Amino acid sequence: MAKKKAWTVSQDPDLNVITVDFPDVRAGWEQWWMVSADRHWDNPHSNRRLQREHLELAKKRNAIITEIGDTYCCMEGRFDPRRTNVGVNVRAEHQRKDYLGALTRTGVNWFAPYAEQFAMFGYGNHETACLKNNSYDLISNLVEGLNNKAGTNIKVGGYNGYLRFKFRMQKTRRHTINVFYTHGSGGGGPVTKGTIQTNRRAVWNPDASIVLSGHIHEQWIMPLSRYRLSQDGVPYHDYQVHVQTPTYKEEYGDGKEGWHVERGAPPKPLGCQWFRFYYASDAIWLDTAMSFPMTTGGHMRELLLADDENPYARPDD
Ligand SMILES: [Fe+2]
Ligand SMILES: [Fe+2]
Repeated sequence: MAKKKAWTVSQDPDLNVITVDFPDVRAGWEQWWMVSADRHWDNPHSNRRLQREHLELAKKRNAIITEIGDTYCCMEGRFDPRRTNVGVNVRAEHQRKDYLGALTRTGVNWFAPYAEQFAMFGYGNHETACLKNNSYDLISNLVEGLNNKAGTNIKVGGYNGYLRFKFRMQKTRRHTINVFYTHGSGGGGPVTKGTIQTNRRAVWNPDASIVLSGHIHEQWIMPLSRYRLSQDGVPYHDYQVHVQTPTYKEEYGDGKEGWHVERGAPPKPLGCQWFRFYYASDAIWLDTAMSFPMTTGGHMRELLLADDENPYARPDD
């Protein structure tokens, strides 16, 4: 028996807004939420083992998952200017004439065991580049495939957009939390790690309590406190919580060579961002958590090499 879903998701086709309803918030209620981006899932450097680890955890926690772009890497389409002539960005199972179809089919099969947890897949620049260069919409094909296979109701988001989390507390009171998400843009900055964007985004997204971004493969959470005035003229303080999601793609490796190494980029944090909503003192609270593998001394490369799906892993590795 499947676990009963504690939430439902809906989308107004005319608005770039996805709504998630939590109809039964009461004493002891909690809801885990995983925010992921930049899996670059089809890239040989994408750490599938860590992704499985986290998706299994999401299942165990019955978490809701929202994914904000670069699920796919997809740089090897026939007419894609980013393609290499040696296929270094392609896993063996995708080295086919129907490269894009293979990306979709294998993606559907791989994500299907976790489809129940997903509420949304949004677009990253890698999916919009695929659409531009190959006239192929990876995200809507993945979502359609998952919904058909798993009987789910996952929504296709945008590159940017709003998520609304609507809570019904004790069957009587309602509260809505607005989340703005963007896949992101720019390089992030080697020292500031993209944190400067928090103040830029805060200016033009005044209605969001949470602002999510991906793309730059960094990881941080920065709360900004605000001084507000209610409709009734009562001053109050609140937070706008800015969240930067990391990646699952291990680009640095042993640092010997490659585009990432030669442009002077450092190793990047791998994983996702975890949140837990809970109900206490008649209010909704939000805890945050990051998760790092420590028993390997944090050596992500070792985790990657131990990945039985890693195409570089040989029996003697
Ligand atoms: Fe990315
Ligand atoms: Fe990106």
